[in-house]
Amino acid sequence: MNYKKQVENKIKQIKEKKQGIIVLGVESSCDETSIAVVRDGREILSNIVASQIDIHTKFGGVVPEVASRNHIACINNIFKQALKEANITKEDIDAVAVTYGAGLIGALFVGVNFAKALAYSLGVPLIAVNHIQGHIASNYISSASLKPPFMCLLVSGAHTSIFDVQDYTSLKLIGQTVDDAVGEAFDKVARVVGLGYPGGPKVEKQALLGKNDIVFKKQNALKHTYNFTFSGIKTAVINYVSNAQNRGEDIVVPDICASFQSLVAKELCEKSLRACQEHNQNTLVIAGGVSANRYIFNYIKQQGAKLGIEVYAPPISLCTDNGAMIASCGYYNLISGKGISDINLSAKANIDYLNN
Ligand code: KG4
Ligand code: ZN
Repeated sequence: MNYKKQVENKIKQIKEKKQGIIVLGVESSCDETSIAVVRDGREILSNIVASQIDIHTKFGGVVPEVASRNHIACINNIFKQALKEANITKEDIDAVAVTYGAGLIGALFVGVNFAKALAYSLGVPLIAVNHIQGHIASNYISSASLKPPFMCLLVSGAHTSIFDVQDYTSLKLIGQTVDDAVGEAFDKVARVVGLGYPGGPKVEKQALLGKNDIVFKKQNALKHTYNFTFSGIKTAVINYVSNAQNRGEDIVVPDICASFQSLVAKELCEKSLRACQEHNQNTLVIAGGVSANRYIFNYIKQQGAKLGIEVYAPPISLCTDNGAMIASCGYYNLISGKGISDINLSAKANIDYLNN
């Protein structure tokens, strides 16, 4: 039987089975190699994440070629571990979901080629997952009763956007950054104050020790829109640090981090909660690497509670890149029939957030 026919049969079986659908999720878009096994889109049976942080720290950031090589070196073992921990064999897999973009092209190719070979050899559907939609789906795992529609604040190393999530597979863009992504701003601030890579978690840790008493000037041009700008805040921090250094003064890193983080939290909070209010939505979901920042999450949650808006974010382990979110998103693509890909799937460095 050819692959196409096998997939048709498998989809028929999945439709009849309705429950107990096992999706394997593969993620390799940046510096984490991750494979997970998820049942019915919500229940993690295993989620193995191999982070390359230690490897890239000595370069001060992610080196794409090094990331790709490390994905190749470990993906097979990660796969074996994921099956073992989930206590399944590869024949139990109903579908293989994989991040096909956006991300580092060489890194993406490793996951996509692995997933293609596996889906083909098992005769099961291959599901192409948009990384951004994967991040949103991480909340379906952590909040069992969460269902679209809701508003989503997506904050990562490459994106800062507000989406109206209309159902499991369709989003409408409400606003986005016009320059830097918020994660990028965290990483640049970390570098400028000497904290290095990975910036976000280090800034958050330092901020816990500091006072929020430095006023960084920022532009207000986008005040009444849902769009963000972070380059002004970032430049204000850079100027503050270089002015202090020119005057021969010491900088107080914890105070810089606390003041920067608080300004960013206010900006993200004001726009995302206003988007909820003006679209009659009382649920806000935060997703993406920066949602790991508990100061930002708690601040938005507290402000949301005052307005009757419930705010969700995943636990830290599901905020940064992981295979479970890809498997969850893949499950919803599979049952809606939207993301089933043919075996010629290719990785893409840049894709529109809407594509699945
Ligand atoms: O979603 P992600 O893992 O990768 C992308 O899809 O971009 O996000 C990575 C970004 C990095 O910029 C990192 O500094 C930031 O998320 N990040 C944080 C925290 N943890 C990760 N930013 C602020 N606070 C954190 N605790
Ligand atoms: Zn990500």
